[in-house]
Amino acid sequence: MATRTAGSKLLAAQFANLRRAPFHAIEWDQLNSQMKGRSADVRSNIGTKVMRHRHRIRFTQNDGTNLGQDEAYFFVVEDGDQIRLRFHDYEEIYRRPGLYEQVFYDRLKCSSPKKVGEILKEALDDSEQSVTELRVLDLGAGNGMMGEVLRSYGVSRIVGADIIPEAREAAHRDRPGIYDDYYIADFCNLTDDTREDIEGWSVNCLTSVAALGFDDIPVPAFFEALRFVQNGGWVGFNIKETFLDNSDNSGFSRFVRELIFSEYLDIHHLERYRHRLSMDGVPLYYFALVAQKTAEIPDEFLTLCDVA
Ligand SMILES: C[S@@+](CC[C@H](N)C(=O)[O-])C[C@H]1O[C@@H](n2cnc3c(N)ncnc32)[C@H](O)[C@@H]1O
Repeated sequence: MATRTAGSKLLAAQFANLRRAPFHAIEWDQLNSQMKGRSADVRSNIGTKVMRHRHRIRFTQNDGTNLGQDEAYFFVVEDGDQIRLRFHDYEEIYRRPGLYEQVFYDRLKCSSPKKVGEILKEALDDSEQSVTELRVLDLGAGNGMMGEVLRSYGVSRIVGADIIPEAREAAHRDRPGIYDDYYIADFCNLTDDTREDIEGWSVNCLTSVAALGFDDIPVPAFFEALRFVQNGGWVGFNIKETFLDNSDNSGFSRFVRELIFSEYLDIHHLERYRHRLSMDGVPLYYFALVAQKTAEIPDEFLTLCDVA
């Protein structure tokens, strides 16, 4: 059985009330000041490189504060036609170079790849490990925003994975060379070939940014990806704050809570931060989490969490 570090025990003690209280009831400033992360250099130009084409976009009044984040939509005006795109119409968004960056990063100020990258780097620094030695699996990689952040830190190997081919096409088009390989795969139903291929990368870090929940990556797919990470390897991801409170019924709440308290993960950094703005300018808060995997997670973990 894996041992827990002092930091992890402290965190577990801080979270003793978690099973009763929602996450936002916790004193975040106090908690964060006791954790290992420190603020790092800001990679301020991430995501700006591919803004080669400005699209005409129009936001609506009824945005994500009323609609679910997966239902929110906007219009892009092309040749006089208004095309309605949901935020989750990734195929259509990725087909248009720069549109994803313009909507989510330029207009809605998404900070998540930068945030997860920063705290991952800080956790490695604090553990006196080199970020350059990471071999990362970036799940839900999209057109490569997180890959770009990781490369900016000098990560040596980055393998992307997404469920739609348009994501890989956009990553190769907009950020050529960022990923050493890029798999189009459903992690709920991995083929033996893909599994073997990914195992060949000896992954020691999993990242998943702005991709968990909301009809995107379900718990069993995230679980499968976690299992590729070698013991002693790293995990960095973000998740909407409501996914960690008692009202969540997507399974992520139970799964992540159980992981946090398990002997399989050693938490290094957990932070509530502004992921992005809604179309109305309302801040949307997420948690960013960095942890070290300390032991193999058994098959039955999902069933134990009541998720399978
Ligand atoms: C909001 S984008 C995030 C992309 C990138 N990580 C970023 O930070 O910009 C979510 C991505 O998750 C992908 N996705 C959704 N469901 C998925 C699944 N089951 N497996 C893998 N990727 C998935 C989508 O295709 C999309 O590219």
